[in-house]
Amino acid sequence: MVLKKTMQIAVIGLGNFFRKTHAAMLKKLQKERLLNICWIADISEKNLEQASRIFPKAACFNTAGAVLEKVRPDAAVILVNGNAKPAIFSPFIKAGIPFFTEKPPAPTYVILRDFLLKHRKLPYHLVAWNRRYAPVIVMLKRFIEQRSNNLSLLCADFLRYDQASPPPGTGNLQHVIDTLRYLGGEIESMQCGNGAITMQEEDRPFSFSGVVRFASGVLGQFNFNVNAGIDKETYRAMATNEMAVAEMGFPNDSYKEYLQYKNRKTVKNLGFNGNYQRVNGIEAEYREFLKGLARGNKTSPTPLGDSLKTLKMCEMAGRLLR
Ligand SMILES: NC(=O)c1ccc[n+]([C@@H]2O[C@H](COP(=O)([O-])OP(=O)(O)OC[C@H]3O[C@@H](n4cnc5c(N)ncnc54)[C@H](O)[C@@H]3O)[C@@H](O)[C@H]2O)c1
Repeated sequence: MVLKKTMQIAVIGLGNFFRKTHAAMLKKLQKERLLNICWIADISEKNLEQASRIFPKAACFNTAGAVLEKVRPDAAVILVNGNAKPAIFSPFIKAGIPFFTEKPPAPTYVILRDFLLKHRKLPYHLVAWNRRYAPVIVMLKRFIEQRSNNLSLLCADFLRYDQASPPPGTGNLQHVIDTLRYLGGEIESMQCGNGAITMQEEDRPFSFSGVVRFASGVLGQFNFNVNAGIDKETYRAMATNEMAVAEMGFPNDSYKEYLQYKNRKTVKNLGFNGNYQRVNGIEAEYREFLKGLARGNKTSPTPLGDSLKTLKMCEMAGRLLR
């Protein structure tokens, strides 16, 4: 990718995930001269100081507001925690500065819905999804596109075991619906059911399953647990007597399944994510974002369109789950 100019980027929020994942990617992209981390901001002096050792040339600020008072970045990377996000997004939206962010975009489903209603024309997809360009997803999407006429079933599982769960209607429900919409197009109807196991911390079910019908007529199926995160994501697509399995996180389970299918010779062909282990796709998503900036799109146009549609689906599932 050749950009006309190196994008000047501000990073807001320099906590764990910045250090663990984003910093290395941003460094790599900076080395390729696709971007320059010019400004960094965090209300925590300690985190700011640590980040400034990673990006010594970046100017340091305590708040996003202080950055915007002084300069106009080409784009921002916003990695503050969920509660702080909507308030930080607003001045960037107002200034027309595109941003790349992490899920979840808001602490609760209701806050996110109200935020999106206020910013209906926002060109970014702001729900859970930021892994669209992970190689495994790209592979599965291609499989589906090539078999669009005889695709029969599309499944998505998001299962991760965290300590605490996010509020209902956020986290994995958004992930799973976004994935299904991205891979299978718009969803027309949905039926959900609760799992029997309940969360220890509160009396609500731990896992959910559902069946959807896409507008194309294809059936979809999903399972998710109420916790957030991406440590185990599996997607399956079945066309007539063919199956593709893509997995992010720990591929072993899918591999076992793959062997079973293979041994039983129940399917003709099988695409399998054997080569992609633990790929989270954030880097690929960054590259798409930068490409979008280069095209002057402000950001890469989302194939998911209106974020509110995903939320509407969450609402539908939420109602059915109550
Ligand atoms: N996609 C994933 O797999 C994944 C994994 C981990 C975290 N995340 C998401 O990434 C985000 C960040 O997570 P984290 O673990 O780094 O959290 P964190 O709490 O470690 O870091 C957040 C940072 O933002 C700073 N901050 C908070 N409010 C601010 C404000 N108003 N102005 C400037 N700085 C502010 C905090 O001081 C902190 O340094 C969260 O939304 C989280 O859900 C996503």
